[in-house]
Amino acid sequence: MYQPKPTKGKTDWFVQDRFGMFIHWGLYALPARHEWVKQREEMTDEQYAPYFKYFNPVRFDPDRWADLAAAAGMKYMVITSKHHDGFCLWDSQYTDYKATNTPWGGDLLKEVVRAFRERGLKVGFYYSLIDWHHPDFPVDRIHAQRNHPERARLNEGREMSRYRDYMKNQVRELLTNYGKIDVIWYDFSYPGEGGKGRDDWDSEGLEALSRSLQPDIIINNRLDLPSSADIYTPEQFQPRGWVHVDGEPVVWETCQTFSGSWGYHRDEATWKSPGQLIRMLVNTVATGGNLLMNVGPTARGELDMRAEAALGVYRDWMSQHGEAIYGCTASVHKAPQDCRLTQNGDRLYAHIFAYPFKHLHIDGFGDRIDYAEFLHDGSEIHFSVDEENTARLELPVVQPPVEAPVVKLYLKPA
Ligand code: GLC
Repeated sequence: MYQPKPTKGKTDWFVQDRFGMFIHWGLYALPARHEWVKQREEMTDEQYAPYFKYFNPVRFDPDRWADLAAAAGMKYMVITSKHHDGFCLWDSQYTDYKATNTPWGGDLLKEVVRAFRERGLKVGFYYSLIDWHHPDFPVDRIHAQRNHPERARLNEGREMSRYRDYMKNQVRELLTNYGKIDVIWYDFSYPGEGGKGRDDWDSEGLEALSRSLQPDIIINNRLDLPSSADIYTPEQFQPRGWVHVDGEPVVWETCQTFSGSWGYHRDEATWKSPGQLIRMLVNTVATGGNLLMNVGPTARGELDMRAEAALGVYRDWMSQHGEAIYGCTASVHKAPQDCRLTQNGDRLYAHIFAYPFKHLHIDGFGDRIDYAEFLHDGSEIHFSVDEENTARLELPVVQPPVEAPVVKLYLKPA
């Protein structure tokens, strides 16, 4: 069993809970064509201004979001307090570019935090290091104005040191005014020529500030301080095994989307199937990680029907299979064919990805199996063990009506 390297922040709850909700919400919900729309379409501040002027999520109902997350089995939430466009969901005293100055007029972050906390979910803030609105943030190689004919002139007078102070002031607000914050998710560094890294952000200063204000807080790995990160965050792909950094296993969390973009994207048709959604969660825990699954609320403040349906897939599956996820990790045993294994002490869960006819063979430790059952309905599964120590489980011919059915194995003490 891998023992991940110890963390400075408190990760015991994190590796227990395994499943969280990521929320990307901001002005980009109005254009509804990717949260990087300002950058991708090289929009000026003036061109982006209508989204601020008309931001009015009249159907904003964070209690509904939190209900859906809790029902889906998610145990924590990470929300974009500020994304790369610089827009702030909270009432920051260091900028006018915030929700309270839009037609909506309120502190959205406060409401979201309240709703999720009331339902027992832990709370995390995503905070963008990048800022395509702040007047001191240089027009660098990924800035929205990178191809502006007068880029040099635009860069005159910009002072990164003032922007560093701005970030620290904002982080101090976020980590002081909203109660206990369990995760801070900085995004992101792109060191090298024309990019930004630890010295540009003063990552060490941000880390020290975060830990001094919230001693238990978990800090992700995008500050460009590889060895002091608590969690590592592979994005939009599924690691094949436990994530290692410098040869050492680490605590990790993969973040994923339902359809590709993080912000609400009206026209995207690449929504993942129910089977994919379940397999992503299982694959993640079976390789020792957490899954942070993203929703992008609309400009009205709702999760659209497709997102609600996808959360419903998790709700239905997790209500019957949660114990094969919470507190589980990669198994020391080799998974049977077409299966993934998750393990919690002497309970082993075989997630069947391709349903066989009609035997499941478990090689090498048949003598350790005391009892076997389907997890979703608790029905017994008969098995025999041969002289090679392979257990042969007798499955019903027809797959039970659940995604990736789980066989729960009770192991005898080793
Ligand atoms: C990326 C993107 C971003 C998204 C994030 C989530 O770094 O810049 O839009 O917020 O990943 O992991």
